[in-house]
Amino acid sequence: MKILVTGGTGYIGSHTVVELQQQGFEVVIVDNLSNSQAGVVDSIKKITGIRPHFEQFDLANSDKTSEFFRRHYDIKGVIHFAAFKAVGESVEKPLLYYRNNLVSLMNILDSMIANNVQNLVFSSSCTVYGQPDELPVSENAPIKKAESPYGNTKQISEEILQDTIRSSKIQTIALRYFNPIGAHETALIGELPLGIPNNLVPFITQTAIGLRQQLSVFGDNYNTPDGTAIRDYIHVVDLAKAHVVAVTRMIEDKMKEPFEVFNLGTGNGYSVLDVIKSFEKVSGQKLNYKIVDRRAGDVEKVWADSTFSNEELGWKASKELDEMTASAWKWEKAYRAKVSQ
Ligand code: UD1
Repeated sequence: MKILVTGGTGYIGSHTVVELQQQGFEVVIVDNLSNSQAGVVDSIKKITGIRPHFEQFDLANSDKTSEFFRRHYDIKGVIHFAAFKAVGESVEKPLLYYRNNLVSLMNILDSMIANNVQNLVFSSSCTVYGQPDELPVSENAPIKKAESPYGNTKQISEEILQDTIRSSKIQTIALRYFNPIGAHETALIGELPLGIPNNLVPFITQTAIGLRQQLSVFGDNYNTPDGTAIRDYIHVVDLAKAHVVAVTRMIEDKMKEPFEVFNLGTGNGYSVLDVIKSFEKVSGQKLNYKIVDRRAGDVEKVWADSTFSNEELGWKASKELDEMTASAWKWEKAYRAKVSQ
C-alpha cells in the first residue's frame, strides 16, 4: 500500500513516515528541503529499518508534480504536509505563502484527478478557529477571519478541497492540529527550525542548551489563571499516529462524508508558564526567561474538544506534557551533540 507523504522530511511529516512504515505502509516522500534536511531520510531508516523512497522537488512546479504522479500511479493515498508555516514571515511575504501553499495543493489535486488517486489527508490548523467563543473548541465552531496570510492559506485550502470534492472522486480528511511539540523517543528525529525559532518549545530547548540567551514570554496579562496564554500541546508522535488512522479510514472506505474534519489535540490547555515549569522539572534546569509584551496576532486561549476524533477515529492522544517536554529536551541534546562532533 503506497502512500505519498509530501513534506515527509519535515517535523510532523518525518514522525508520520515512521508510524506509517511501522504499520506496514510503503512510503514515498516528496520534499523540496526548504525547511528540512535530506539526512532525515537516514534517521527514518535507522528507526524503522526501511529507507523510504525520497524525491526532492517543489510541488509548486506543476510539470514535475504531474511527471511524478505518472511514475507513481499506484499511490493509494496522499498525506499533504508540504507548506510554509511561519506566521510572521507570512505577514511580510504574503504572496510567497499564497503561491507556495495553494499552488502546491492545486497541483497535487490536478495530478490526483488525472491518475485516479482518491484519498487525501490534509494538514490543517486550529488557527482556523481564531479566538473561539466557546472552549473547548469543536469541529463545528465557526471559522474566524484569519489573523495571518499563513492562517488564510489553511482556510482557503479547506475551501479548495471542499469544492474539488464536489466535482471529483477525491475524498479528504482535514486534520486540524493544535500545538504539536516533542520528538521521537529515539531522539533521531525532532523539530529542527532553521534560524531563530518562532515556536515556544524549540525556543525553550535552544535557550537551555545555550544557543539563545533568554526566552521572551509573550504577555502575562491575559485572562487566564497565571496570566500567560493557553494552548493545547500535543505530542508529535500522537499526532503522527492519527494520520495513520485517517489514511486507513479512507482506504478502507469508512468515511461518512467525502470531506471530514477532525481536531487533533489532547483536550487539555496549558499556559506558557506551565510548559516552562514542566521543562524545568524534566530537565532539572532553570530556564532564563522574562515577561515581555504580547505578540501580535496571538489568541488568549484555545484547546480542543477531542470527543469527535476520539469517538469517530478511535484515536486518542496518550502522552502527557512532561513526556512532551522531556522528549523535546532529549532531542535537542542529541542533535547538538551530533552536529558538534
Ligand atoms: C502558531 C500559529 C499556528 C501555527 C503554529 C505552527 C499563531 C496565532 N498561531 O501557533 O497557527 O499552526 O504556530 O507554526 O501564530 N510563546 C512565547 N515565547 C516564544 C514563543 C511562543 O511566549 O518565544 C508563546 C506564544 O505567545 C503562545 C505559545 O507560546 O502563547 C505558543 O506559541 P507557538 O509555539 O508560537 O504556537 P502558536 O502561536 O500557538
